[in-house]
Amino acid sequence: MEFRVKVDETTEQAVEACRQASSTKELEQVRVQYLGKKGELTGLLRGLGQLSAEERPLAGKMVNDAKTAVEDVLKARQQELRDAEQDQRLAAETIDISLPGRPRPQGTLHPITMVLDEIKDIFVGMGYQVAEGPEIENDYYNFEALNVPKDHPARDMQDTFYFNENFLLRSQTSPVQIRTMERQDPPVRIIAPGKVYRSDSDVTHSPMFHQVEGLLVDHNITFADLKGTLQLFAQKMFGVHTKTRFRASYFPFTEPSAEVDVSCIMCGGSGCRVCSNSGWLEILGSGMVDPRVLTKVGYDPAAVSGFAFGMGVERVAMLKYGIHDIRLLFDNDVRFLNQFAAKGGCQV
Ligand code: PHE
Repeated sequence: MEFRVKVDETTEQAVEACRQASSTKELEQVRVQYLGKKGELTGLLRGLGQLSAEERPLAGKMVNDAKTAVEDVLKARQQELRDAEQDQRLAAETIDISLPGRPRPQGTLHPITMVLDEIKDIFVGMGYQVAEGPEIENDYYNFEALNVPKDHPARDMQDTFYFNENFLLRSQTSPVQIRTMERQDPPVRIIAPGKVYRSDSDVTHSPMFHQVEGLLVDHNITFADLKGTLQLFAQKMFGVHTKTRFRASYFPFTEPSAEVDVSCIMCGGSGCRVCSNSGWLEILGSGMVDPRVLTKVGYDPAAVSGFAFGMGVERVAMLKYGIHDIRLLFDNDVRFLNQFAAKGGCQV
């Protein structure tokens, strides 16, 4: 009888302790205190040994029933406390959707890509098609077909990277002129943007740089067409007030040839540091396609004529953006490149 009182008392205490527990942590302590290995209810089971053999089964059942009852209360309380704790957590973790978002770093187009796109847009707008050619060229397309025979001194104008006797890294985009004319009959109206290579390196020269070649061949094309085309290009590229100046020059594949200057985009022509006080900036080479070049590709120079030009893209980019060292364009320093995000470079 005394044993039953002990069991009832302990059970009551355990149930009360469950109710009092205000967190799952506290409840766990209650579980250990009453139902754990050394717990008070578990301890009562061990006390069974002191009872007589007749009393033992009944007393054992009593303790086990008590344990089950306490376990049920504990489980129910556990669920209650868990729910409450989760509600609390959810309330505390509310997301503030009015907080500003975390911006992701965004790339921009490279200034060379931006300038290339701009040049392409201007000429495509005048009806030109974009042509391409290989960067590994052979001697014929890079020189021979462009009226530069072997041992001709004009080869010294471009310090070329050779793989062997025949193959080289193209030193200019002019070979695309030949490849295009070989493929199609006049009229031809193409620009050929791409990489070119020369053994040259300093603040204004890089061993790899970009050129855009232009070629137009049709009936009755004159030097006036060349001038008009490049004048319009200069105005679209550098602004409506830009003037052009054609200076007699020499290229093996054009005759006559001219170097083209634009009025300084920094000072407008009055003279400054960028134009070395001349008021002019050289931006491209040009001329009327040499009849020998036309003949080489099977065109009849008596029937058709044309003009060609070639410009350095890095030079245009450097002038446009006031970049003084060409190497900045290839170092890929984000502090440099980030500055072009604001220049209308469409963000990618
Ligand atoms: N290919 C020449 C160069 O790289 C430029 C040029 C192209 C000149 C077309 C005339 C006509 O210097």
